[in-house]
Amino acid sequence: MSKGKILVTGGTGYIGSHTTAELIEAGYEVEILDNLCNSKVEVLDRIEKIAGVRPKFYDVDLRDAEKLAGVFKSGGFDTVMHFAGLKAVGESVEQPLRYYENNVGGTINLLECMQEYGCKKIVFSSSATVYGVQDTPKYVETMSTGGTISSPYGKTKYMIEEILKDVTVADSAFAVTILRYFNPIGAHRSGLLGEDPNDRPNNLMPIIMKVAKGEIGELTIFGDDYPTPDGSCVRDYIHVVDLAEGHLAAMEQMGPGVQIYNLGSGAGTSVFEMVKAFEKASGAELPCRVIGRRAGDLAEFYADPGLAKEKLGWEVKLTVDDAMEDTLRFLRTSA
Ligand code: NAD
Ligand code: UFG
Repeated sequence: MSKGKILVTGGTGYIGSHTTAELIEAGYEVEILDNLCNSKVEVLDRIEKIAGVRPKFYDVDLRDAEKLAGVFKSGGFDTVMHFAGLKAVGESVEQPLRYYENNVGGTINLLECMQEYGCKKIVFSSSATVYGVQDTPKYVETMSTGGTISSPYGKTKYMIEEILKDVTVADSAFAVTILRYFNPIGAHRSGLLGEDPNDRPNNLMPIIMKVAKGEIGELTIFGDDYPTPDGSCVRDYIHVVDLAEGHLAAMEQMGPGVQIYNLGSGAGTSVFEMVKAFEKASGAELPCRVIGRRAGDLAEFYADPGLAKEKLGWEVKLTVDDAMEDTLRFLRTSA
């Protein structure tokens, strides 16, 4: 018997697909809703290969309120895991209205349906970007949010967090868990799932993958003059399978009201160290060139993951080196 029925929005995407596989393997029944704007329907075959079950799939856009209501009418979901959203920081600066409409508008439709059909548990994919600029690089959940966010993308995450908090004030039966991810990397150990965006990627790892495949000539490193040990920016990279397990741990500890957790490793890795780790795993040199700083980049930030460890019993098990090995396996499998 299933442990519960979960609707995963954005479930054919990078983090949603890994989490779906973990949920199925843990005994949950999962249905996926995605409009495939940044993922492919073949991911369902790959989830089936890994977990032995093909999740029911709704090719639905969250902005289509009528179709969304149809999903909930027949759904009977216990919990929603809400990954669906647009996530390209630079694009959000150029197209702010599209980001607010998709991310904030889509979430409002989702919450309205949840309320109407009596599904009152939601786990939301937020981001460390909501902390903005802080005095120290180690971000803890009690820090202020929303003040100095540099992109419309980041602001949509902050706005959705605030909307979710207001919903629990209005309806005390609502349970909300906000997960603030640091920098997800890596792939499923089978090599079947990984990050495979439909458009040109903006994040470091998918760009490294494209350089390794020869689709992009070189990695341009955005600055080597930051006040960090080697001059390049430092981030907290978290293996996507650890992240997926964090969702499971968080969902199993949900109660009424709002809970907020950082999901990160607590350790920082520089861009140069990431390049070296990839080269070590692949055995080949990665063509790189240092150029100027990218607007909006912070020198260094990483998670204080203490709260997730204390309350959820969750912490990362995998390393950046594991992520590189798994990424290479995914590259070979998807080639
Ligand atoms: P992804 O693009 O791989 O997955 C998101 C999925 O949502 C895609 O499959 C896309 O087709 C779908 N989607 C987008 N808008 C939709 C809509 N209106 N209706 C239905 N489906 C829609 O991204 P990901 O890396 O898996 O990220 C998942 C979530 O985590 C996102 O909300 C993202 O903002 C958040 N997040 C990601 C990172 C990261 O670095 N990957 C960091 C922090 C937070
Ligand atoms: N970088 C390069 N060259 C590239 C791409 C990235 O040098 O071609 C560097 C960046 O300067 C940064 C690091 O690699 O120092 C990581 O960059 P990403 O774009 O992969 O990630 P960010 O830390 O900038 O952004 C991530 C998520 C956002 C989120 C933000 C804060 O992608 O969604 O963390 O949590 F908003």
